[in-house]
Amino acid sequence: SRPAILVARPVFPEILALLREHFEVDHHDGADALPPAELVARLQGKVGALTTGSERIDAALLAACPGLKIVANMAVGFNNFDVPAMTAHGVLATNTPDVLTETTADFGFALLMATARRVCESEHYLRAGQWKQWRYDLFAGAEVHGSTLGILGMGRIGQGVAKRGAHGFGMKVIYHNRSRLSPELEAECGASYVSKAELLAQADHLVLVLPYSAESHHAIGAAEIAQMKPTATLVNIARGGIVDDAALALALREGHIAAAGLDVFEGEPRVHPDLLTVPNVVLTPHIASATVKTRLAMARLAADNLIGFLTRGQALTPINPQH
Ligand code: GLV
Ligand code: GLV
Repeated sequence: SRPAILVARPVFPEILALLREHFEVDHHDGADALPPAELVARLQGKVGALTTGSERIDAALLAACPGLKIVANMAVGFNNFDVPAMTAHGVLATNTPDVLTETTADFGFALLMATARRVCESEHYLRAGQWKQWRYDLFAGAEVHGSTLGILGMGRIGQGVAKRGAHGFGMKVIYHNRSRLSPELEAECGASYVSKAELLAQADHLVLVLPYSAESHHAIGAAEIAQMKPTATLVNIARGGIVDDAALALALREGHIAAAGLDVFEGEPRVHPDLLTVPNVVLTPHIASATVKTRLAMARLAADNLIGFLTRGQALTPINPQH
């Protein structure tokens, strides 16, 4: 009989149809992600699963699902996976790199510009009928072109943000990363390497694009925000937990930085209540990769990882190929 898989979240009908050509598909089409116990129950008898960032694949789940061979995440980030535990259990992990790089970099810029130029705050004002007169200082924000763009985390998406800033907006681009780019890549991105302290002190706009890990947990907290310019904007398109959201809400309220744009949150889909009450923050529901074309490409790559591995023993974008 055909291999059985779980598709743990709603997905494009054409991707479901493609998967059904190869597998017995159990599809969780509910609005909410499966709670851990239900996820374990639905994985019984399954060799593969298609997940998003919402399903935690850890040692306890793996021990309870001994038949599982592959989990394909429809995301580039995979902090919902305990990769060493998956490797130890002989379970292949895959993600969806590359297909979302430029789309996500576009959104980084959308959020940066909406934040710096106060697009959302001013729209709420207009909709609320508060616009009576043009005024010289009405929603006067921070300059984007020609300013200094700081990037923390210089993977593919960070490089995409850097190129847009350097080549599209004439920005001075500085970055900090665990490892420095080659001189060739730095030139291509128009970006210069600086220490984290220099990045915080010099950036007019700071964009976070680093993966979440124990090491990057609260990489931006009260102490780091205190080192930023009071006129600076902060943009997080990486992961919740990289920013200390409570500290950020306080800093925004007290004017330690000018504004923030956040696509990801600690404990999302919950959002820290203090962030909901400060005006100088733009909040979006984890949509940086959300164009129709890119989400379809991500779903297709996740499906192709399942099909390739379970039919030919070959995944396209494995995270732990040595498993
Ligand atoms: C989305 O956050 C992703 O990791 O693809
Ligand atoms: C991962 O973080 C990437 O930039 O592709």
